[in-house]
Amino acid sequence: MTDVGRHPKVELLAYSEVTKVTGYVGNFKVTVHRKARFVDEKECTACGDCVEVCPVTRPNEFEMGLATRKAIYSPFPQAIPPAYVLNAEDCLGHMPLACEKCSQACEKECINYDQEDEDVELEVGVIIVATGMKVFDPTVLTEYGYTKYPNVITSMEFERLINAGGPTGGELVRLDNRELPKKVAFLQCIGSRSEKKGQPYCSNVCCMNSVKDTILIKEHWPEIDVGVYYIDIRAFGKGFEDLYKRSKSHGVRYMRGLPGEIRMNEDGMLDLYVENVETGKTEKHSYDMVVLSVGLEPPDKLDEMRQMLNLSKTADGFLLEAHPKLEPVDAPTRGIYFAGCSEAPKDIKDSVTQASGAVARAGSLMCKGEITVEAITSRIIDEKCKMCGICAKVCPYNAIQFDKASKQPPKVIEAACAGCGCCGAECPFDAIVMRHFTDEQIISQIDAMLEENPMDKVVVFACNWCSYAGADFAGVSRLQQPASPRLIRTMCSARVSTKFILHAFKKGAPVVLVSGCHFGDCHYIDANHWTKKRVDKLRDQLVKLGIRGERLPLYWISAAEGQRFQKVMEEMEELRKTVTVEEVEETKRILADQEAKKKAKKKKAKKPDKEAKAATD
Ligand code: FES
Repeated sequence: MTDVGRHPKVELLAYSEVTKVTGYVGNFKVTVHRKARFVDEKECTACGDCVEVCPVTRPNEFEMGLATRKAIYSPFPQAIPPAYVLNAEDCLGHMPLACEKCSQACEKECINYDQEDEDVELEVGVIIVATGMKVFDPTVLTEYGYTKYPNVITSMEFERLINAGGPTGGELVRLDNRELPKKVAFLQCIGSRSEKKGQPYCSNVCCMNSVKDTILIKEHWPEIDVGVYYIDIRAFGKGFEDLYKRSKSHGVRYMRGLPGEIRMNEDGMLDLYVENVETGKTEKHSYDMVVLSVGLEPPDKLDEMRQMLNLSKTADGFLLEAHPKLEPVDAPTRGIYFAGCSEAPKDIKDSVTQASGAVARAGSLMCKGEITVEAITSRIIDEKCKMCGICAKVCPYNAIQFDKASKQPPKVIEAACAGCGCCGAECPFDAIVMRHFTDEQIISQIDAMLEENPMDKVVVFACNWCSYAGADFAGVSRLQQPASPRLIRTMCSARVSTKFILHAFKKGAPVVLVSGCHFGDCHYIDANHWTKKRVDKLRDQLVKLGIRGERLPLYWISAAEGQRFQKVMEEMEELRKTVTVEEVEETKRILADQEAKKKAKKKKAKKPDKEAKAATD
């Protein structure tokens, strides 16, 4: 942080919040809300005179409430800039004169009660999101008595307790009597890997953090008896297995299984009731301190940030990368990168590695000064556009600029367009064409595959990133599949317009399957929500016309679900067998009728226009 603070090319905006982001790669406009700190950050030398005289005491958030701070304080020891912050909510105030002691004590006159919040506008080319994480709050696990028993603490609180700069100067003490504990237990996976209370995922860092803590205890206080209760120890990183072995060699006891309950006995000891997995019997183990190894969660405001930047999240709530293997630090929106726990729980080493990757990606883009976009973007045909604005509404990247008042057709920002094709599929006037995966290409594929024996075929639209990759996976895994499915690849399932589906039915397809990524996995943010809306709507229309809705299924299949792909294909084959030649012929007739009616309606609508024009002439 000190290096960052000193770097001539880094402008550090501490005590600030991003409130708005507009624009696209190379042209982002970011609004930052700078909160008033009421202290001149350039002049303040953090001498501490103001802190000494401040009469207000509050729990210190950085010390996890294990120490206090004043209303004017330094957020944490290594804070950059090193200037103090005056918390306006805690301050007794100077108008009317209630205190003003800090201001009187400050010789350099750094305190300015009239300072106000301000908004700063920044123009930036790329953005790196490094919003960090928060820890699980174990108060919901009432069986462990956190906050009820003083000596049940979290791993974060333990971290402050044994830190040399912490509230006890690094002395490990029981919180009830400030004596050195004789027995300490660590409980793993608190709030992690739990479907009921907490998060279903593994938080990645807790096992090794506890292993490290046990070694620290044993090296400083070898007489302390340490036990670790776990589901399984995940020591998969470089050197981690050695660390785990070292902890064991110090005499730390590792016991499989988590206690069901903690109760404090009359001696002030904490009784852990735990099943011995070897004997199957419940045992009681007593400790005088229990450390809950709490899991990591996405920070509170990550969702706000995600919406501002137009990003997607995983089912866990962390930000979704463009590709887990090929673009692990890139956001799906071009020009945005991730570092640290905003993307997933990770330890220091992984965070530093990812941050270096993100900086390198950002740097290489900025140094070039220009970007090359793939020729898969969309193009608007101005003559056909009726300026309805649907394209701008459905674009997940805000890559279509449209101002109805300007009476000008929308414009595609090529640098921001990712080529999902959602706009092209939604445009009711055929005014948007894709540069790749064009309508003609897709229609030709449908024609070719249904030219002969259409009754034997199932038309499958598969998105490039998930379903198509799932099919590939099923293939390389040599999973037996029926011969009827014929795949048409599109970049996203959102590219599949109703036009393609109806064309397939008109050509005699018994079943048309649309498949894409699971919700939250779509590589074009949330474009597949439009797929669902569109397919559901079309299915309803088909049903109203007397066509069986089941003939238009929609499935989400991920790249890793080769088996699921095989299963779905088998299901489609069964469905295909239920469709008769008569049914297909009837569908063709209904759709042809509908088309004829539509044409006639269009003609009729045009006629009065012509007549009116002739009358005015
Ligand atoms: Fe697969 Fe959008 S990329 S559904």
